[in-house]
Amino acid sequence: MSRLLWRALIAALPAVVLSTNPNTCQAINAQFPGRVVFSNDSAYAFDQSSYYSGQERAVQPNCIFTPATTSDVSQFVKTITPRQDSDANFAIRGGGHTLWKGAANIDGGVTVDMRLINQTVLSADKTVASLGPGGRWHDVYHSLEPHNLTVMGGRLGSLGVGGFLSGGGMTFLSRRKGWGCDNIYGYELVLASGDIIYVTEASYPDLWLALKGGSNNFGIITRFDVPTFPSDGMWYSLLEYEYNDTVLEAQAQAFSRFMEPANFDDAAMMGIFLDCTGGNFSVRDALWYADNVAKPPVFNGFTEIPNLGGVAEIATVANVVDEFGANLPTSIQRAFQLDWSFQNPPADVYMELIKIWENGTRAVADVPGMFIEFLTQPQAVTNGTNLFGLTAGKTDYAMMLMTAAYNNEADDEKIRGAILEIVRAQRGLLRRGGYLIDFVYTNYADGSQGVYKSWGAGNVAKMQAASKKYDPQGIFQTRVPGGFKVF
Ligand SMILES: Cc1cc2nc3c(=O)[nH]c(=O)nc-3n(C[C@H](O)[C@H](O)[C@H](O)COP(=O)(O)OP(=O)(O)OC[C@H]3O[C@@H](n4cnc5c(N)ncnc54)[C@H](O)[C@@H]3O)c2cc1C
Ligand SMILES: *[C@@H]1O[C@H](CO)[C@@H](O)[C@H](O)[C@H]1NC(C)=O
Ligand SMILES: *[C@@H]1O[C@H](CO)[C@@H](O)[C@H](O)[C@H]1NC(C)=O
Ligand SMILES: *[C@@H]1O[C@H](CO)[C@@H](O)[C@H](O)[C@H]1NC(C)=O
Ligand SMILES: *[C@@H]1O[C@H](CO)[C@@H](O)[C@H](O)[C@H]1NC(C)=O
Ligand SMILES: *[C@@H]1O[C@H](CO)[C@@H](O)[C@H](O)[C@H]1NC(C)=O
Ligand SMILES: *[C@@H]1O[C@H](CO)[C@@H](O)[C@H](O)[C@H]1NC(C)=O
Ligand SMILES: *[C@@H]1O[C@H](CO)[C@@H](O)[C@H](O)[C@H]1NC(C)=O
Repeated sequence: MSRLLWRALIAALPAVVLSTNPNTCQAINAQFPGRVVFSNDSAYAFDQSSYYSGQERAVQPNCIFTPATTSDVSQFVKTITPRQDSDANFAIRGGGHTLWKGAANIDGGVTVDMRLINQTVLSADKTVASLGPGGRWHDVYHSLEPHNLTVMGGRLGSLGVGGFLSGGGMTFLSRRKGWGCDNIYGYELVLASGDIIYVTEASYPDLWLALKGGSNNFGIITRFDVPTFPSDGMWYSLLEYEYNDTVLEAQAQAFSRFMEPANFDDAAMMGIFLDCTGGNFSVRDALWYADNVAKPPVFNGFTEIPNLGGVAEIATVANVVDEFGANLPTSIQRAFQLDWSFQNPPADVYMELIKIWENGTRAVADVPGMFIEFLTQPQAVTNGTNLFGLTAGKTDYAMMLMTAAYNNEADDEKIRGAILEIVRAQRGLLRRGGYLIDFVYTNYADGSQGVYKSWGAGNVAKMQAASKKYDPQGIFQTRVPGGFKVF
């Protein structure tokens, strides 16, 4: 039955019939005893507290449903899609690390918490790992470590598999193999009909491609099948430097050179973290080399800048993400983040970008809890298996992220205004130089960034066609309002 017919039918029913109908949360609760929590339950507060940002913690679903199996997910979708009551909308959550409000949580509907579906299972020949979307990379890496294997996942162990791989995935291996999503062989997917299908390049080529970066637009993903890669250790360094113009100029030089195609090394991933904390500036480099090679020369431009100390070691992937994660807060109050991508410019342009950032932070230096991080990193070298609109094999695209964290909602507008102003000036500089590209990466973007539009009209049309074909009623467009939508 169409949604319009449903609406007409419900409107025609006497009010008394409606009020005796259980609402969606009650219906789901009756269907899945023990798997639904309401706001009067202590587990509710516990679940809510596990989101990374305060904005997501403040969103209040009527209930939280925690499926344990793919079949639970399928039955849930079959139950909820025909319903029309006010809480029959839903959100899908993995690790809950998206910062912006409502990406993986919902006011007044059902939040589907995937965290019990968190297995890591190796195929008999160990070439494929099947990952549950509710897993966290810390657990995934630790379970593969005894086999000397790794997969393309997060550089922070607490990130969820579900959001990370459905949105893209910048990984230690991304300069060699592309985005995490470029490397997914198969998705087990629950469609809007509740049907469970297995999506590969051979079985559903259009849907398979649309799922790469397609986030929650096509269904609930219940399993990712991904290739494993041998790994008996990688090199990791985190170095802190004195923050002054000499050092920043050396960083700008080193990064611009690192990004030149002639210097490309496909094992090398990194990031320059410029932080402003309550008006105080600092600079650190995180250097990651995917192969078991100590002090790889590709990073000499950075390691030769006099530094204040830090780590430099060979360690397993699991240990690297744990150690790196220990430098980051485990949750934040208010947050706002934007990302954008560009062609590598000369060093003086990086220096100007830094100066724009420095100047822009002054306006908000006194905001309680103020922290603004300007992160520059090389972009994944896509292998072309997605709809991102990027040139496959191109090595000299970089990505910037501007992230603000602060204490109080009352400062939302002030911080937002300052960040938008910094980024507007930086993007303007890059655009004028001919360096800016359209592409916006899903997983670091704010909800306001219009991610899919940036991938090009032809690619959006392909995603829209897949949505119409596999979700003709548009359930995942209208009834799952969170995240980026292809329409
Ligand atoms: C501190 C920090 C470090 C980060 N580091 C990296 C990094 O190294 N590389 C990188 O690429 N990104 C990084 N990110 C970004 C990260 O990839 C995203 O935040 C990602 O969405 C996290 O996944 P999640 O499962 O925790 O997200 P959630 O917030 O739970 O979900 C994100 C989106 O995916 C959808 N979704 C989740 N699971 C499913 C599913 N099973 N089926 C359908 N849709 C689903 C949700 O509905 C939601 O819209 C980082 C973020 C933070 C905060
Ligand atoms: C909690 O709320 C739900 C939904 O409103 C209700 O069904 C349940 O009885 C409540 N439980 C308690 C202990 O109050
Ligand atoms: C899966 O989640 C359960 C419940 O939170 C947890 O006890 C278990 O350790 C997790 N397993 C893996 C492999 O991540
Ligand atoms: C993993 O690698 C280490 C170090 O190279 C080696 O000692 C160990 O035997 C390997 N384990 C397996 C299961 O291959
Ligand atoms: C991209 O990676 C996938 C998985 O590793 C692989 O199957 C595919 O052939 C690659 N595509 C290209 C163009 O290299
Ligand atoms: C900047 O820092 C470097 C490295 O610590 C140091 O050698 C240099 O003297 C500093 N320059 C100024 C002007 O402080
Ligand atoms: C900034 O630096 C000054 C001087 O070192 C210090 O007193 C102050 O506590 C710092 N502020 C923050 C927010 O770290
Ligand atoms: C510095 O920032 C202010 C806003 O805080 C802006 O008006 C000004 O143009 C900026 N100056 C430079 C040189 O970027």
